[in-house]
Amino acid sequence: TGSLQVSELAEKLSRESSEIIKKLMFSGVMATKNQDLDPDTIELICDEYGVKAEEEIVVDETDFENYISDDDPADLVERPSVVTIMGHVDHGKTTLLDSIRKTKVTAGEAGGITQHIGAYQVEENDKKITFLDTPGHAAFTSMRSRGAQVTDIAILVVAADDGVMPQTKEAINHAQAAEVPIIVAVNKMDKEGANPDRVKQELMEYNLVPEEYGGETIFVELSAVKGEGIDDLLEMIVLVSEVEELKANPNRLAMGTVIEAELDKGRGSVATLLVQNGTLNVGDPIVVGNTFGRVRAMVNDLGRRVKVAPPSTPVEITGLNGVPQAGDRFVAFDDEKKARQVGEARQQRMIEENRGEKAKVSLDDLFEQI
Ligand code: GTP
Ligand code: MG
Repeated sequence: TGSLQVSELAEKLSRESSEIIKKLMFSGVMATKNQDLDPDTIELICDEYGVKAEEEIVVDETDFENYISDDDPADLVERPSVVTIMGHVDHGKTTLLDSIRKTKVTAGEAGGITQHIGAYQVEENDKKITFLDTPGHAAFTSMRSRGAQVTDIAILVVAADDGVMPQTKEAINHAQAAEVPIIVAVNKMDKEGANPDRVKQELMEYNLVPEEYGGETIFVELSAVKGEGIDDLLEMIVLVSEVEELKANPNRLAMGTVIEAELDKGRGSVATLLVQNGTLNVGDPIVVGNTFGRVRAMVNDLGRRVKVAPPSTPVEITGLNGVPQAGDRFVAFDDEKKARQVGEARQQRMIEENRGEKAKVSLDDLFEQI
């Protein structure tokens, strides 16, 4: 369903516009060539010609993962690694990211930098690296778990003066569950009381054994505040990325994950997406979680407008009909109608599930009262 102009309908039916206008007139509708026709009127005219108004697109599965086809290995090319910064609250994750960005972004670009999105890209030895920040507060377990799932490498930040703390352990669990390699960044080395050896001892309990003790885990000692050890860390990230042989197919419809999303007063729904495979283009029809639309505009990590987002790129997009949730998956479509159908089906399913949840809750409440 959707509207068509008289001339568009005429073209679809291989008729002259004037003929359609005449038919409409006989049905009591006065129309001009450029007039929009509603679905009912379109159907009426199509019936007159014995044509079905709409080709039916079968959405047999509302789960859009079905629209993701496998890639031919021949189409795969190298992609930037996605690196998630994890660790206990206040151990210096965000400061570390700021420090990396400061050393890596050229002076000319510096003016344009605002911490636009919680994800950004830097270049080290001609290799791009995409970084994602995560919060260390105990309440954000799901964000850390999600971070571990979309990432290729986890940087475990541990403050040298504080050692292994509850969310350090939690981050290790998420990364190990997702089978993601961990690089340990022993931070705050500038602080009095910094004790990197203690950190190493403590982490051995979690199978993170430094090379100096015969293990395989990379430890980098640094000070995010002073900018010391940052280059070592980047070098290690590049090394580990090379071992991972990370690949993607840029010549296909995009798919990936929502990093964050919110409702903006001026721009409406704004979502930060990590493109994990394919290339996302402005104008692409897209289903994001239970929302859908067309990519209206894309902004990169430097706050600049871009038209394309290749694999491993974080971008902020507008154009969705709702606000998706962090962690939702997205899939781009070649056909707007299909995107809308899949999106609507998912929205419908969500409404029904919510209703089911509510019904269950009130039933439970009822039983509790009996
Ligand atoms: P959450 O996001 O809340 O989990 O914290 P975080 O891990 O992002 O920590 P953040 O970067 O906000 O830093 C917390 C505090 O530690 C700030 O006051 C930083 O200035 C300080 N800090 C971070 N890195 C260093 C460091 O290398 N040395 C010293 N002395 N202080 C640091
Ligand atoms: Mg932080």
